[in-house]
Amino acid sequence: MPDPFRHYEGVPVLDLPADPPSPETPALDVLQGFSGTTSVKDGPTFLSQLLFYSASISASKLVPSTGDRYALRVNPSSGNLHPTEFHFFTRGLKEWPDGLYHYRPSSHMAEQRASGDIEMNLAGSSAPITFVLTSIAWREAWKYRIRAYRYCLHDIGHAWQALALAARSIGCDAFAVGQFPDDGVAQLCRLHEDEWPMLIIELRGGSIPLSEREPNHREIVWYGGDPNQLSKEEIVYKQIDEIHEATKFRGDNLASHSPAFESTPKLPPSSTRPFGEVVRMRRSALDFLGGSQSMSLTQFWALLGAANRPLTADFATARFIQLYLYVHRVSGLQPGVYRLSRAGAGLEHLKSGDQRVAAAGLSLGQDLAGNACVAFSMIGNLDGATRAHGDRGYRYVHFEAGAIGHRLYLAAEALGLGATGIGAFYDEEVHRYLNLAPEQGRVVYQFAVGYPVPDYRVNA
Ligand SMILES: Cc1cc2nc3c(=O)[nH]c(=O)nc-3n(C[C@H](O)[C@H](O)[C@H](O)COP(=O)(O)O)c2cc1C
Repeated sequence: MPDPFRHYEGVPVLDLPADPPSPETPALDVLQGFSGTTSVKDGPTFLSQLLFYSASISASKLVPSTGDRYALRVNPSSGNLHPTEFHFFTRGLKEWPDGLYHYRPSSHMAEQRASGDIEMNLAGSSAPITFVLTSIAWREAWKYRIRAYRYCLHDIGHAWQALALAARSIGCDAFAVGQFPDDGVAQLCRLHEDEWPMLIIELRGGSIPLSEREPNHREIVWYGGDPNQLSKEEIVYKQIDEIHEATKFRGDNLASHSPAFESTPKLPPSSTRPFGEVVRMRRSALDFLGGSQSMSLTQFWALLGAANRPLTADFATARFIQLYLYVHRVSGLQPGVYRLSRAGAGLEHLKSGDQRVAAAGLSLGQDLAGNACVAFSMIGNLDGATRAHGDRGYRYVHFEAGAIGHRLYLAAEALGLGATGIGAFYDEEVHRYLNLAPEQGRVVYQFAVGYPVPDYRVNA
């Protein structure tokens, strides 16, 4: 197993203050698009708060056979392998030097890879904080082989929403940019060759503490740092390299766009659990209690409402995922297979009858998909995405699936339920079971929500 933590050695490491304040806005409000606030007035604490509630370590798990403990993070990851790295540019933050940083989750610190006024100009004006999320495919590939590329993309979708929602909870907006020249951004960030830039996320908003001084356009000083070696040896998976190459954007310039942020009416909350508490407590359920306890219709619609909100990204004006549901135990709904309308307001009943064995079977025989109250197949319109974005559209469909999954995780936690992303499933069997013709889309991700069995190995 490769080292789960990347460090850029030999660079200044800046402290992110411990125990930043917990965002108090209800998580379901944040998921509905409502903006929270923060009392934080300086750059270091602001960054600490943002990262503590989006990317940090939040628990540990015991391996009973060896007595070892391993870290779990705020953002989930297939196999807990965490291929995603968080890099960020800052500009004009109060009491925090401008520069390029890499987040070090193992100690909640920032590795300063460069200081000064590095240009990361995406929309004609630089955002004060811009993240570059990268994937290290080898971290997944040693275990999942060529399927790893899809998991890397899902994980980016989760990390995107983890950041965007944390930003929202403390009063700023996040805009994701998928169309950027891959090689240019990799060079700009001087990334090690095993790290691939996947998504850029700009943060803006009045809550970001900015210095009152004029930007002094300080000269750029590079520290770079030596990336740690993750494994002694690596196996090359040619198909992963090929699909990554095929989905690269080769234009010269970063696409110009005007970030448009949606504002939403506040719906009556069905849970008031604060955002900070929900993200720190979120865990993947190992399995669900299969008994007779149902999810209420209110919980069910709150869940779907959170999953189906607009996403703010240059590739998200059209949506490419449609949700198919295997309803096992939802009060007032007959067990069966349903399809959520694209507008998210209506359900089409496709099959009747108990779906528990089918849902588990399609998910590689994982009981949790049958013991949940509801399981999902996310059906991606890959043809539509490639028509709109060329081969790069393949990435966007998976980012969207991961983003929906992340929203389901947080909504489930807020509603007193649990959730688990399911990347292991039989693709063709899902298509056959749902009678999906190729033009109706392909399954890209599955999900399950229900009442979790307690996991005594977790220490929060
Ligand atoms: C893209 C993705 C795919 C996953 N696939 C599975 C799966 O097939 N089966 C499963 O039990 N858990 C699956 N998980 C859950 C991870 O194992 C879990 O996120 C990880 O162990 C970290 O635990 P945490 O979510 O509690 O932080 C998946 C998670 C993600 C993000």
